[in-house]
Amino acid sequence: MMAASKLSSMMAYFTLVLSVSLISVTLVSGQCFKEDQVSEQPASEKATSEYQAVFYEQQLEFSLDMFHKLYNKENRTNLFFSPYSIHQALIMTYFGAGGETRKQLQTALHLKETDTKDELIRAFKMENFYQETRSENTTQYDLKVANRIFFSNEEPVRPCVQEIFSKEIELLNIVNETETSREHINSWVEENTRGKIKDLIGSGHMDKETRVAIANAAYFKGSWEQQFKKSNTKLALFYVSQKEVTPTMMMYQKGSFRHGVSEELKAYIIELPYEGEAISMFILLPPFTPNALQDTISRLNASTLREAMDGMYPDSIEIFLPRFKIEQTFDLSQALRAVGVVDLFDEVAANLTDFSEKPGLAIGSARHKSYLEVSEQGSTAAAATALIGTRSGRPLDQTRFVCNHPFVFFIYDNALKNILFMGAFHTPKSVEKS
Ligand SMILES: *[C@@H]1O[C@H](CO)[C@@H](O)[C@H](O)[C@H]1NC(C)=O
Ligand SMILES: *[C@@H]1O[C@H](CO)[C@@H](O)[C@H](O)[C@H]1NC(C)=O
Ligand SMILES: *[C@@H]1O[C@H](CO)[C@@H](O)[C@H](O)[C@H]1NC(C)=O
Ligand SMILES: *[C@@H]1O[C@H](CO)[C@@H](O)[C@H](O)[C@H]1NC(C)=O
Ligand SMILES: *[C@@H]1O[C@H](CO)[C@@H](O)[C@H](O)[C@H]1NC(C)=O
Repeated sequence: MMAASKLSSMMAYFTLVLSVSLISVTLVSGQCFKEDQVSEQPASEKATSEYQAVFYEQQLEFSLDMFHKLYNKENRTNLFFSPYSIHQALIMTYFGAGGETRKQLQTALHLKETDTKDELIRAFKMENFYQETRSENTTQYDLKVANRIFFSNEEPVRPCVQEIFSKEIELLNIVNETETSREHINSWVEENTRGKIKDLIGSGHMDKETRVAIANAAYFKGSWEQQFKKSNTKLALFYVSQKEVTPTMMMYQKGSFRHGVSEELKAYIIELPYEGEAISMFILLPPFTPNALQDTISRLNASTLREAMDGMYPDSIEIFLPRFKIEQTFDLSQALRAVGVVDLFDEVAANLTDFSEKPGLAIGSARHKSYLEVSEQGSTAAAATALIGTRSGRPLDQTRFVCNHPFVFFIYDNALKNILFMGAFHTPKSVEKS
């Protein structure tokens, strides 16, 4: 009884907070976005939570698309990025987009034509509210997500947009204080990634003509729920390919972890939870045969991945995992063009009229910088355990999970069911890309 009443009072609190923030969004945005058909009735909470699930599914599909576009099949270099962070930045951009620019973003983000900006804003705000509440609520890990749209103070940003994104929008005197503005944005990023990502926008990537910069920063630091003992870490060989080996510091532990095998993906999968179990690292490890990782990656999509994750169950296993660090900088425009976002980068074609009616507003550059450190204690990435496997019967012949050859990994939010960070590990030789 006591537990039940405690639960219901908690839920009442939670619901109350959500509905307050929803109402204010509905009222304002109803008049703000031109292409939205304004619904006669405000969306019910049920519809909102149903849409929320769709929103996360769309986010997962987008994440895997970006992975396919950013992964370099030919050169097989390490890859690490935050699909989540890119998604957040693009969603913010989408709120300003109209016409063909909007359609292109819609396709890339896997949105349906019938999804209104209103619904999307609710989902976006709710996700960010959830992230904020959760991270304030826990000391077990540190996940910080921040979004901001920096406009030039000469830009006539539509007042309703300023109102909806009052928390996210900041005006800067970019015309007369270009360098100071650039430094300001960089410090904002640095602050929101706990100092791990510096100088996101290099000098020369911003000038007097810059009218808008859309930024997302994601930072994650978690300790493994079951830590690796430092004394078990030993120098071992990493098989980069059939022809190349490199020594690396290999961590080791034996414990009970959820793991399984996916025939669809032709890979083994394991879950390494961080303390609190809200967030986990998953590793997809194909067998050590030529082109095995490429094969696994080419089979990777939302349904094959979900199936692999659902088919896991806990069992005792020995894990060998390299201790590693990856830092990368990307120009995202190429990958975004590859998923059909083209007009956004074209001063003539770009349509961001829902932000500002002054023509010529376009995105000059799209940059992404990521940092990951995996150690005995846990991970730091400048970026949940509900999925209990129920399928039984198939014995796991596997008692060792040896990551001594290329693998795919991702840091996953078990509550929201989306990928925060993702990468492919090909070689212990640290590779920096820009
Ligand atoms: C692979 O690397 C080579 C040599 O560095 C480069 O010329 C080529 O463009 C790269 N290929 C891809 C797909 O990035
Ligand atoms: C931009 O999109 C809006 C719809 O949101 C449309 O009314 C307008 O004509 C478009 N502008 C251009 C230049 O295509
Ligand atoms: C906050 O903490 C309480 C108590 O541990 C927990 O029941 C609740 O679900 C947490 N809220 C969020 C948003 O994680
Ligand atoms: C920039 O400087 C010019 C000339 O000093 C001034 O006219 C203009 O108002 C300034 N613009 C802003 C946004 O401060
Ligand atoms: C994912 O891949 C599997 C097997 O390759 C295929 O059967 C399935 O249709 C794909 N699903 C999606 C959503 O693309």
